[in-house]
Amino acid sequence: MNESIQKPMLQQVPLQQVCYTQSPKNDKLGKIARLYANAFADLPWNEYKVCQQGHYFGRQQAELTNCTTCSQPLKIAYPEEETVDYIAKEITKPEGTLVTFEDESGEVLAAGWGYACTTEELQAKYNSSEMKGKVVDRIKKTAEKTQRVFYLSEIMVDAAVRNRGIATKITKCLFERAQALDLNLVMRTRYDSPMAQIAKNMQMSQVIGWGEDTDNTNRVLYIKI
Ligand SMILES: CC(C)(COP(=O)(O)OP(=O)(O)OC[C@H]1O[C@@H](n2cnc3c(N)ncnc32)[C@H](O)[C@@H]1OP(=O)(O)O)[C@@H](O)C(=O)NCCC(=O)NCCS
Ligand SMILES: [Zn+2]
Repeated sequence: MNESIQKPMLQQVPLQQVCYTQSPKNDKLGKIARLYANAFADLPWNEYKVCQQGHYFGRQQAELTNCTTCSQPLKIAYPEEETVDYIAKEITKPEGTLVTFEDESGEVLAAGWGYACTTEELQAKYNSSEMKGKVVDRIKKTAEKTQRVFYLSEIMVDAAVRNRGIATKITKCLFERAQALDLNLVMRTRYDSPMAQIAKNMQMSQVIGWGEDTDNTNRVLYIKI
């Protein structure tokens, strides 16, 4: 059988890479917010519904109405309006950069963004003083420029077009942006995310390994020198 017949139609759709250094219009942000909610609803994230205490449940348990841990009611993890606000806030940070892959009608099938942040701002992403100290120590051991970094914040690709190099292209584009700003790019992800494979392929250095992040043992941190 011809392999292309088995693939979803989207595999054949030509996609255009777009780089935004200013926030796009709200309807575009809405498309990205929907993509975001979809991309994180399944494994390994399972962030489809959430309770007040921050217990998440994946799309596989979509019918659940109450948390199985604390019995509190569940709500959708990434409602569109809140998610639009979050994304807008992220990409209007200093040197905020958004990269998308869009089809001819402007539908967004992939997106990723990053921004410049100080080491203090990076430390603020960790809860414990142990991790706040560790992150700076480790970066200082690997990199020369440590005052400010370019933080690759989020990246997501529609399930229908995964594994064809799109996230790799977005990451490269954000590397180039960081390089143009004379900053090292840092990326935090799960040890078992395809992003960890992409980091390896792109010769990023792992500064916090699996099990070393005591705030969240599944999390790892990379830097591109
Ligand atoms: C992570 C994600 C953005 C990757 O997008 P993508 O366009 O499919 O990525 P690419 O095609 O550029 O590269 C994927 C790489 O990961 C590998 N990979 C694919 N699935 C994997 C998995 N489940 N575990 C580990 N590696 C995997 C691929 O083999 C490929 O590596 P290779 O080039 O050495 O073969 C996409 O899977 C996604 O949106 N996931 C949900 C959201 C998410 O996890 N975002 C990242 C948060 S930091
Ligand atoms: Zn709960």
